Amino acid sequence: MRIDFRSDTVTVPTPAMLHAMQKAPLGDDVFGEDPSVNELERFAADLFRMEAAVFCPSGTMTNQIAIKCHTQAGDEVICDESSHIYQYEGGGIAFNSGCSVRLIHGDRGRINADQVAAAIQPDDVHRPVTRLVSLENTSNRGGGSCYEMKEMEAIGELCRSKGLSFHLDGARLFNAMVAKNEKPETYGKLFDSISICLSKGLGAPVGSLLLGKAPFIKKARRIRKVFGGGMRQAGMLAAAGLYALNHHVDRLKTDHEQAALLGAAIAKKDMVAEMLPVETNIIIFRLKPGLTAPELVKLLEGKDVLAYAITPEKVRLVVHLDIIPAMLQQTINIIESI
Ligand SMILES: Cc1ncc(COP(=O)(O)O)c(C=O)c1O
Repeated sequence: MRIDFRSDTVTVPTPAMLHAMQKAPLGDDVFGEDPSVNELERFAADLFRMEAAVFCPSGTMTNQIAIKCHTQAGDEVICDESSHIYQYEGGGIAFNSGCSVRLIHGDRGRINADQVAAAIQPDDVHRPVTRLVSLENTSNRGGGSCYEMKEMEAIGELCRSKGLSFHLDGARLFNAMVAKNEKPETYGKLFDSISICLSKGLGAPVGSLLLGKAPFIKKARRIRKVFGGGMRQAGMLAAAGLYALNHHVDRLKTDHEQAALLGAAIAKKDMVAEMLPVETNIIIFRLKPGLTAPELVKLLEGKDVLAYAITPEKVRLVVHLDIIPAMLQQTINIIESI
């Protein structure tokens, strides 16, 4: 039995989710005629009390569409240096939007209002125009860390006072909301745009949603088409997403509990130099010199446990829907025996 902790993207649909996909009413979504996609978009927008939503194939696409909609070439985007939009989207901010990036050294992926204020460019023809601030909650490279709502509100207030757009990469926002006991509408009020992923902790096979005001989402639909993201009978995927939003949110608590147990077992090992606090479903730790992250990953793979070396010294494990308690116990036993 291979136990796969590489990412929460590795899950396959449950039988109940598959059933929902099979019976989904379908149409051509590029014509706006897929009832299941329309239902998902309405459901998500209402959940966050935002005006509209657009369904896309990936979180990379929803983030990149948002950046494209908020900016024009020559503008600058402020984000944490470890952000997915900067680290893992293939230079898309430059490629798609012609923008520069102002990186902030945050705390486990989280930036604060003072840092943002200091990063805003002065009104000077030599400088790019600061246009957008993007946060990530939870932070992937920050080890699933969650923002404090107060901090996000302070950044939001600053953005409003400076006329900057405010985007949230919420690929794992439901993990944050469950961990912090927060409501979607609080986020809906705060951000100009939110990207949420259905294919991470929520366990759908494909799909992300971009949420925002109606004119913004109208523009986003046009950009989705240009990016090649207009899908046809996508209702099967939307039905999986709807199922996930209705059935897989509360259970994220279990993932967080399992991650905490596994993290505690790993933290006890002599080889570990630093364990990031396990706040949600992601475990990241740094190894002491003597064993590299790829070496540990290989060693674990030999025992049918898959992990991911995010740097030469750091290993990441992610708990998800397909990790059952017996797998967790087996992994803890293996870790203890190393
Ligand atoms: C924080 C974050 N944002 C965005 C994405 C992009 O999602 P996708 O893989 O669907 O493009 C990921 C993927 O892991 C992520 O971790």
